[in-house]
Amino acid sequence: MKKRCFYIAIVVLFLSACSKSNNTGGTTVTPPIVAPDTTLQNTLPFPIGASVSISLLQNNTKYSNLAKKEYNSLTAENAMKFAGLHPSQNTYTWTDADYFVNFAQANNKRIHGHTLLWHQSLPSWVTNFVGDSTAWENLMKTHIQTVVAHFKGKVASWDVVNEAFEDNGSLRNSIWRQKLGNDYVARCFQYAYQADTSVLLFYNDYGHEYSSTKRAAIINMLNTFKSRGVPVHGIGLQFHTNYTQSDANIAAAITAAAGTGLKVHISELDVALNAGNNPALTLTASLAEQQATKYKFIFKIYNAIPAAQKFGITTWNIGDADSWIPRQYNRPDWPLPFDGNYLRKPAYYGILDGIK
Ligand code: XIL
Repeated sequence: MKKRCFYIAIVVLFLSACSKSNNTGGTTVTPPIVAPDTTLQNTLPFPIGASVSISLLQNNTKYSNLAKKEYNSLTAENAMKFAGLHPSQNTYTWTDADYFVNFAQANNKRIHGHTLLWHQSLPSWVTNFVGDSTAWENLMKTHIQTVVAHFKGKVASWDVVNEAFEDNGSLRNSIWRQKLGNDYVARCFQYAYQADTSVLLFYNDYGHEYSSTKRAAIINMLNTFKSRGVPVHGIGLQFHTNYTQSDANIAAAITAAAGTGLKVHISELDVALNAGNNPALTLTASLAEQQATKYKFIFKIYNAIPAAQKFGITTWNIGDADSWIPRQYNRPDWPLPFDGNYLRKPAYYGILDGIK
């Protein structure tokens, strides 16, 4: 009889362990013990942000509550891009971006503007625009100055130009470079500064951690801007990275950025688990732990740069189900610190560990 009770107890224990599995791929995750009021924003020694989708903010209370609770800085994932704000030459549509700004202000969040000039998210009136170099210059300047003026006093900072470089370190031959010439990036910063002399101006790009050539080209441009007196205050490292990226590369990217003396923003962080695009991949406890280790390392290295340069770290959206990665690459992936139910993943605790 005793033996039988013992076996029943074992089975009960086993079943209760299994029931703790969540839907993050069937892994059993035992969260570390943290104080019940712990959040990212009240724990990290620098601003912590997320990019947000306006429709999720409006329609999903779990999402908007988590945005309020965990973060103290917000970026609009798409709502402040050219196509969203400026759908035809004489029309600006502020509705979504203004909703975002009101949400952020009502909840005391810093607002990072993204982005004034990019080769993507362009409306067809721009890609089809016919005009000489003066007309193109005017188009670019008007867009930048109208948008910066609209959000003046509300937005703390802007990604002025996004992704102007190729991975090989050459200037991307975007429509902007074709129409405006090689020095257009500098002029974008000057126009933005004319419209708002107190907003912080960032150059934002990806690949610093995997292309040392691209990193050097970007840093060289920014150092040149500083010596020419072009108004630039920060460097944005997107960091759409993955768990196999080497610690040495990550550290090199962050320390080189800090070497410019500019503010450093890890601006679009996600740590993908399925860079190989395996359509059948599932999330295992081991992958989740390795992701946590990578998040931890990134936060640790970032926290070591001089305090005045720590503009903050922003993840690219909040929960795994909201991430652009699965949609963009048509694959399963789980790149963020919260799972599809907005529960804290090991990556979340990795972040907390990183700043200890
Ligand atoms: C992405 C958004 O996440 C997607 O929703 C959208 O469809 C395309 O743009 N680098 C950037 C971001 O600077 O603006 C991009 O955001 C992701 C890559």
